Amino acid sequence: MSTLDIRNITKSFGATQTLKGIDLTLEQGEFLVLLGSSGCGKSTLLSMVSGLSEPTSGEVVLNGRSLNGVHPKNRDIAMVFQSYALYPNLSVGRNIGFGLEMRGVARADREAAIAEAAQILRIDHLLDRKPGDLSGGQRQRVAIGRALVRKPQLFLFDEPLSNLDAKLRMEMRSELKRLHQMLGVTVVYVTHDQIEAMTLATRIAVMRDGRIEQLGTPEEIYNRPATRFVAEFMGAPPMNMLPAEPVAGGLRIEGTDTVLPCAARAPALIGVRPETFRLAPVAGGLTVQGTVDLIELTGPEKIVSVALGARHVTMTVPADTAIAIGDPVTLHADPARLSVFDAADETRLAMPGDPAP
Ligand SMILES: Nc1ncnc2c1ncn2[C@@H]1O[C@H](COP(=O)(O)OP(=O)(O)OP(=O)(O)O)[C@@H](O)[C@H]1O
Ligand SMILES: [Mg+2]
Repeated sequence: MSTLDIRNITKSFGATQTLKGIDLTLEQGEFLVLLGSSGCGKSTLLSMVSGLSEPTSGEVVLNGRSLNGVHPKNRDIAMVFQSYALYPNLSVGRNIGFGLEMRGVARADREAAIAEAAQILRIDHLLDRKPGDLSGGQRQRVAIGRALVRKPQLFLFDEPLSNLDAKLRMEMRSELKRLHQMLGVTVVYVTHDQIEAMTLATRIAVMRDGRIEQLGTPEEIYNRPATRFVAEFMGAPPMNMLPAEPVAGGLRIEGTDTVLPCAARAPALIGVRPETFRLAPVAGGLTVQGTVDLIELTGPEKIVSVALGARHVTMTVPADTAIAIGDPVTLHADPARLSVFDAADETRLAMPGDPAP
């Protein structure tokens, strides 16, 4: 049985429809990430599940039970926000156990649950402190602890790491992943950070303007984006998009003699990820020729900009690659790693050699 069913949810605020028909099904133990840019409706969708707000139409079902009209505190769902919302005057321990205290859980049971959560989150030495005396990462752990002790059927996270500095964010990300592997809980997690989505999710729902643009595993979303929007949203530097025209036998990349053999009959965009381009020949590969005009060293790699006539493409190469500005280069790409989109409707075109859907 699925754990969470979101069935054709819409939400309007006045005349504006913010959610335009969302369908999602989660299995027990899934870590679903809702990914999308600011204002696309991620938090709104989460609030339909948590019960902070009711949908205009549609239904949310948790473990077979419809949640329409059910008060948030009776939904058996725990939510962790970006703002930790801790009680400043209560100790860490009481903050973690506060929900249990409100429910009248006996003191000994409460303390056992707090101790267990604190140990999992490695904050057992902080239980007597006040939130004001904690670091951001420690506060976030307390907020997660408060959700954990409730042993809910579902965890909701809304950008829980976005208040942390880059290093701590990465640490907490690994921590969350470890926690999920250890406990096997079901999670819906909102972020606009694609790396967070890629690293944490069992599946990602890429949202755009109140709809789900693509739902898939991180590998599917990254390697087989269903639309140009998804292709360009995922990956930094972004996927190169090379306009191409249909010619006999395939698609000819604009401004080049390069033809990608395929059956396409309309103008297209050939999407190539920066790391797909190689300087060494690839058997049966697509080739384009250009001149290096910018090199950025990031540490582990170089981001190289190559001028192809009036257009630029970006490739990434290992940092120790010998390459200099002004070098003429031939870029090679394995056709099996390309994404081709219809130039008009920007949806993915099936290519020979694609895995069966
Ligand atoms: N209570 C409300 N009344 C009116 N409009 C709202 C309300 N809540 C959200 N909206 C609008 O709905 C849209 C989606 O908002 P939402 O908070 O879901 O976006 P989001 O994807 O979470 O963005 P962010 O990444 O910035 O948090 C926005 O245009 C927002 O202004
Ligand atoms: Mg939001």
